[in-house]
Amino acid sequence: MSQPTIPLFDREVQPPYLAPGYKSTVLRAPTQPLVVIPHSLSERTGPVFGAANVGPLDHDLTKNSMKNGEPLGERIVVHGRVLDETGRPVPHTLIEIWQANAAGRYVHKVDQHDAPLDPNFLGTGRVLTDAEGRYKFYTIKPGAYPWSNHYNAWRPNHIHFSLFGPNITTRLVTQMYFPGDPLLDHDPVFLSLPPKGRSLLICRFDMAVTEPHFALGYQFDFVLRGSGSTPFETV
Ligand SMILES: [Fe+2]
Repeated sequence: MSQPTIPLFDREVQPPYLAPGYKSTVLRAPTQPLVVIPHSLSERTGPVFGAANVGPLDHDLTKNSMKNGEPLGERIVVHGRVLDETGRPVPHTLIEIWQANAAGRYVHKVDQHDAPLDPNFLGTGRVLTDAEGRYKFYTIKPGAYPWSNHYNAWRPNHIHFSLFGPNITTRLVTQMYFPGDPLLDHDPVFLSLPPKGRSLLICRFDMAVTEPHFALGYQFDFVLRGSGSTPFETV
């Protein structure tokens, strides 16, 4: 019996599995047709991470390192909504955040970039959406960093996200970029996306949430699935 084919996601938005300019996709892109694995009952009904997992400072990456000082860099506040395929808000959804510090360095043993760590910045956080699907967190604008994809390759400023929707099958992993970043035109990860998908991953400067004498505001919405889904990392 032939296997059903995977429902096609929106090719005008989502990145292909294989993007030769983004070298690691050459190694990991599937070479055989994909096989649908039906979701089990426990996948559709099992518990996901919720409010009990979020601490009082998890939404503030400028304070959650448990150190005594302020991190270096440009403070920002990021807000938006999590939506489903019909545009309805998705409440009580856990958003996990990880990023480089202002110098472009991750707190991770495999990050060998010759840039300073910040003792007051871990670069990780979590936030839950409220009843209207809204979220907000504070952080430091991440710096660009080099990587080994090709000669003189640099990643643009970006923040990584993982979202759990109503169940584990609606998990979304993606990256958010900043408007006007000149490195976007040179980044094979960003350029692997179709043009429409690229625009969906760039946040919007938001004067309405910019806080006087404190932090610049940015707005970014997530759509968990459907043809208008936020571009996600597929492999
Ligand atoms: Fe990164």
